[in-house]
Amino acid sequence: MSKQRLSVVVTRRLPDVVETRLSELFDVRLRDDDTPMTREELGEAMRTCDVLVPTVTDEIDNTLIGQAGDRLKLIANYGVGVDHIDVATARQRGVLVSNTPGVLTDDTADMTMALILAVTRRMPEGMAVMQQDKWQGWAPTALLGGRVSGRRLGILGMGQIGQAVARRAAAFGMQVHYHNRKRLRPEVEQELQTSYWESLDQMVARMDVISINCPHTPSTFHLMNARRLKLMKPDSVIVNTSRGEVIDENALTRMLRAGEIKGAGLDVYEHGAAINPRLRELSNVVLLPHMGSATMEGRIEMGEKVIINIKTFDDGHRPPDQVVPSML
Ligand code: DGY
Repeated sequence: MSKQRLSVVVTRRLPDVVETRLSELFDVRLRDDDTPMTREELGEAMRTCDVLVPTVTDEIDNTLIGQAGDRLKLIANYGVGVDHIDVATARQRGVLVSNTPGVLTDDTADMTMALILAVTRRMPEGMAVMQQDKWQGWAPTALLGGRVSGRRLGILGMGQIGQAVARRAAAFGMQVHYHNRKRLRPEVEQELQTSYWESLDQMVARMDVISINCPHTPSTFHLMNARRLKLMKPDSVIVNTSRGEVIDENALTRMLRAGEIKGAGLDVYEHGAAINPRLRELSNVVLLPHMGSATMEGRIEMGEKVIINIKTFDDGHRPPDQVVPSML
């Protein structure tokens, strides 16, 4: 007798090849339109499936997990960040959680560099001149930005993505510094040509560019709060491709408006799509709609990771990318 196929609910549209492969392997319910599920829809899905495949736009909190059906055994997140899932409650309920590390490292690091360059070299202002048909030809003093090479970059969070940023920044001639919960091994620091700062305050006060690359956890929430933002040099810039909650967005907006920080490049926001409207009014800010990992290659590889995690679980083993509370 053939084994019954796992019932899998996918909460958002995924690339076609990923949806097709999932459908070949499992009894899958796919999302028809590309909107997040409502809380009721999520609750209903979690009461009736074996595996939920959510994304960053789904808030899987303790109430939803508490009301999940006994069938639910795995939350195979489509994405690396799991701050939208109550991993501790899931564990208490015997529900495994997995994510998709590694496959979006390069894409996110590329986008970090793109933001550093865009803000430092004033690219959006140049684009606006062209789009508004205001360009009257080359001028020696027009749109002068700063030279990236030689600038001091402080990376906050030196995991896989932080390290990929460090490699790229060194190739651009930047001086790379970092702060991390745990110091890297000396040979890794040497390979990355990076200097460790035990004190985040001291690092922040001396950098030309700060890049946020740490996950959002209770201990990184508002790590860049108003007090720490004020330590930044007035001619420095900050970029964030990680999670908006790491920066106090209102404090940052106030300082950008007051010219107390030179600029910012943001791909993520404290309250998701509900961004502080004043940010949109600022010419020294580059805003992107959370697209750091948005390459077709990356999104397909994320799907492959999800499939491997579910398949391995289905075969009676621990998913290779299981997330446990002690990792957070
Ligand atoms: C992630 O995977 O956590 C990204 O932020 C979404 O692509």
